[in-house]
Amino acid sequence: MIQLKGKAHILLVLIVALLNATQTIAQSGKQIIIETKNSALVLTIGSNQKLFQSYLGANFNRKADYNLMQSTRREAYIGAGMEDLFEPAIRVVHTDGNPSLSLRYLSHTSSKKDGNTTETTITLKDPQYAIQVDLHYAAFFNEDVIKTWAEIKNQEKGTITLSNYASAMLHFDASKYWLSHFDGDYMTEMRMKETQLTTGIKILDSKLGTRAHMYRSPLFFLSLNEPSTEKQGELIAGSLAWSGNFQNTFEIDQQNGLRVISGINPYASDYKLSAGKTFTTPEFIFTYTQSGKGQASRNLHDWARNYGVLDGNKPRMTLLNNWEATHMDFNQDLLVELFDGAKKLGVGLFLLDDGWFGNKYPRDADKTALGDWQVDKKKLPSGIGYLVSQANTKDLKFGIWLEPEMISPKSELYEKHPDWVLKLPNREESLSRNQLVLDLINPKVQDFVFKIVDDLLIENPGVAFIKWDCNRMITNAYSPYLKDKQSNLFVDYTKSLYDVMERLRKKYPHLPIMLCAGGGGRTDYGAMKYFTEFWPSDNTDGFERVFIQWGYLNFFPSLTVSSHVTSMGKQPIKFRTDVAMMGKMGYDIRVKNMTEQEIKFSNDAVRNYQRISDVIWFGDLYRLISPYDEPRAVLMYADKSKNRAVLFNYILNYRRKEYLGKVKLDGLDPNKNYKIEEINMLPDTKSNLPENGKILSGEYLMKVGLNLSAGKVAALTSSVIEITAQ
Ligand code: GLA
Repeated sequence: MIQLKGKAHILLVLIVALLNATQTIAQSGKQIIIETKNSALVLTIGSNQKLFQSYLGANFNRKADYNLMQSTRREAYIGAGMEDLFEPAIRVVHTDGNPSLSLRYLSHTSSKKDGNTTETTITLKDPQYAIQVDLHYAAFFNEDVIKTWAEIKNQEKGTITLSNYASAMLHFDASKYWLSHFDGDYMTEMRMKETQLTTGIKILDSKLGTRAHMYRSPLFFLSLNEPSTEKQGELIAGSLAWSGNFQNTFEIDQQNGLRVISGINPYASDYKLSAGKTFTTPEFIFTYTQSGKGQASRNLHDWARNYGVLDGNKPRMTLLNNWEATHMDFNQDLLVELFDGAKKLGVGLFLLDDGWFGNKYPRDADKTALGDWQVDKKKLPSGIGYLVSQANTKDLKFGIWLEPEMISPKSELYEKHPDWVLKLPNREESLSRNQLVLDLINPKVQDFVFKIVDDLLIENPGVAFIKWDCNRMITNAYSPYLKDKQSNLFVDYTKSLYDVMERLRKKYPHLPIMLCAGGGGRTDYGAMKYFTEFWPSDNTDGFERVFIQWGYLNFFPSLTVSSHVTSMGKQPIKFRTDVAMMGKMGYDIRVKNMTEQEIKFSNDAVRNYQRISDVIWFGDLYRLISPYDEPRAVLMYADKSKNRAVLFNYILNYRRKEYLGKVKLDGLDPNKNYKIEEINMLPDTKSNLPENGKILSGEYLMKVGLNLSAGKVAALTSSVIEITAQ
């Protein structure tokens, strides 16, 4: 009896909870409001049960004002084949061949995931066909970020074809639209361009499969009415969390309305979805603000540290990598010598890069051995374990490079499993960097890739860091495993990669892993939930890095942006070091070739970095002067309590008598007094900063600023200023 009572009680509680959470059968005009601290997205259910986006903008204190937002002009997630004449969010070809979808509101739920996050799910259904679409919106209140994605459920009796499947469709009504986007190539990542949108479609996309962001990034700013500055302007910053082919579409219609559609690129990807299956799109992450690009970036950084990046609120290790120092030309003794170099610099970890594996076909150049992940016995006769222990005796942790998704035709793996490779029948193999991509969709290949990492970590439990590389895109796209479902290849590849990462993260939840794809070829929030940092570019020239890192810092927090001091640039060591410090600092250099003075400077710099890195990693970023506007770049980080800040100043070019004015600071407390101190000085040099050593109010620093270019100004010089409340 008591037991029954207990069950009945649970049932009652469940029913009440369900009634609370689910609102079925909508009345027309009913609104679903998704709110963050400063923004709101309002969806309205029309008389025909269709769902409309009636508002996206600043939120209202007076909730009654949302009632004014009743517009039913813009359907929220438009199905193709019906009345709408522009780009659809979704296109379905049903089992019977009917190529149309009409989505009607069925119900919605809203629940708190934690004190900060509210998740709203809106269920839409086609009245004629058994297709259900759940639109998800996770609103992160404090960060002003909304994450949205869709689940497409095939409840028909047979396989349907999805030929469009957006993560998000957003509508804007402004007089003008300005798009900032980022593109490049190997060694020239993240070049910022801004353009006014005109009628028609602007598509930013990738068809590269793996290393998908090599030419274009899925990250953008979209400003409304006028171009935004750092401190002013209405905009969204958006980003598709997907490591494969993406497509961001911006379409202005005949009424000057803008439709933004973000999702997986449907190119060559008509997706076959079997009966009973659900297709889950990747997440589209965006922030809306009326306070300029700087605020948009800070919102994304906060969100990323709290939700988007693995261990985003934990410190990172400084490291010495050996790629640029030795390439594949090393042996055991040389590596042990490099450990001494790492020790001299004062970093915490040594990262062994490419070239440590392969026996039948040793990896002495990039032509062999990918897939043969056994230590090269000639180069490293005592194995990885020996290197780990040698590093540890020098108080260094040890990390290692892998490129698990790839295979060299000259490898034992290829001899054993030629069918594990993506390549077209009846066509020649299409090599890039002399390598091919494994057919990761094949579960056996997934097991193999998982085991590469797992075995390495089981055999060498001291391995404390991994660099996961991916040096080519997919061409010749054909999966032997997929057979007659080839058009699922691009989507399933990326999903398979995430499946492997899920498995790895279950077993190794906190192992730091750097994401790399021949530089910044894979830089997105779909991957970053599994990775702690990424490699922005193989271009490590300090001058170039100012721009590349500047680009990434628009969207990613500094603790994810690996920035190494190398010998690539011809700039003085101080410049290269100061540039690396704006991100997650590390080294890739032959310490043996450095002068005593350079080593001393670097060792001091590492210590400075360790002291101030919490401000850089977890503080708020303020971009003060853009290298796109002036021949210098100035940025600063201020901690959340506004007690500590650090400013980086880089002179990129200088013409005789060119006047570079004072720079107003930001992010300080006007009522606090701050000590100004130049740090990272070369031994035996004096600061040129007139305010050095002074105590100045936050108000003065933000209204008048610092004279960063006093005295003799020269190209490729830099300064780092520590700002501390007294
Ligand atoms: C890619 C990476 C480099 C390095 C090499 C090794 O180019 O971006 O950092 O690891 O591969 O082959």
